[in-house]
Amino acid sequence: MEISLAQPRGFCAGVDRAIEIVERALQQFGSPIYVKHEIVHNKTVVEDLRGKGAIFVDELEDVPTGSTVVFSAHGVSQDVRTQAESLGLKVFDATCPLVTKVHVEVSKMRAQGCEIIMIGHEGHPEVEGTMGQVKDGIYLVETEEDVAKLNIAAGTQLALVTQTTLSVDDASKVITALKAKFPDIREPKKADICYATQNRQDAVKFMARQVDLVLVVGSPSSSNSNRLREVAEKLGVPAKLIENADSLERDWFDGVKHIGLTAGASAPEHLVQGVVKRLKEWGALSVRNMEGVEENIAFPMPKGLVRSEV
Ligand code: F3S
Repeated sequence: MEISLAQPRGFCAGVDRAIEIVERALQQFGSPIYVKHEIVHNKTVVEDLRGKGAIFVDELEDVPTGSTVVFSAHGVSQDVRTQAESLGLKVFDATCPLVTKVHVEVSKMRAQGCEIIMIGHEGHPEVEGTMGQVKDGIYLVETEEDVAKLNIAAGTQLALVTQTTLSVDDASKVITALKAKFPDIREPKKADICYATQNRQDAVKFMARQVDLVLVVGSPSSSNSNRLREVAEKLGVPAKLIENADSLERDWFDGVKHIGLTAGASAPEHLVQGVVKRLKEWGALSVRNMEGVEENIAFPMPKGLVRSEV
């Protein structure tokens, strides 16, 4: 067996920053540091931070008054911000700046009188945060069928935004359907699907054509990791989403000569290396890094926190 590693894979700049915010807050202020929602959708990352003193909560009511809370990379609604203020919490915001960009678009376009159509997955925290930037006038669609069902009064000015971690191809079908139904709908100046999602999907497309099986390291709750698995499957290549090396099952590799390995934007590289190690124990003879885009993006820390020396 031979292993090819997708380039790029794993942590994006937004995830890197979000984890560092929790670590810096723990170092500067001591534990506990409360985190609203999983800081990023990865079990290993969350357990590691929990071990260092982070407490993960779903609701701010569970955070004692005066404590320090970090908002996760997925972003929060305006109601959550107001609630944090009224509870007297010290907030560090780990919302990815590329999610914040979408929040700003939504608020601005709504203030200009547009109603907004968001393309995204119902129940995902990013979608709740983005839709919660405005009090009303925002609708969620996930598929072309949802677009067909939209019932919006003639003459309404419309604008569209998307979740940052969608499948580029699926989103483009929904956008086409929206434009066919509402020819005057406004699109964002720059695509909302982020560079990391785009690059990781492109890398899987490039890799999938050359392998018999694609493995995606990522948690089941991770949107962008699920999309990577789907991208490979849509190209007709079997693909598995795995948490770590312990998720591997030996009979998956019967008759497999070439494995393609990647990781979602919230999955640490040490988990990828753990998978490589297990596959070598099971007979993989070579590992090669595929060619691909080099990413050099880093986002600044919020005020009051400094990036740790490397
Ligand atoms: Fe941000 Fe995209 Fe990562 S929105 S958190 S850079 S997957």
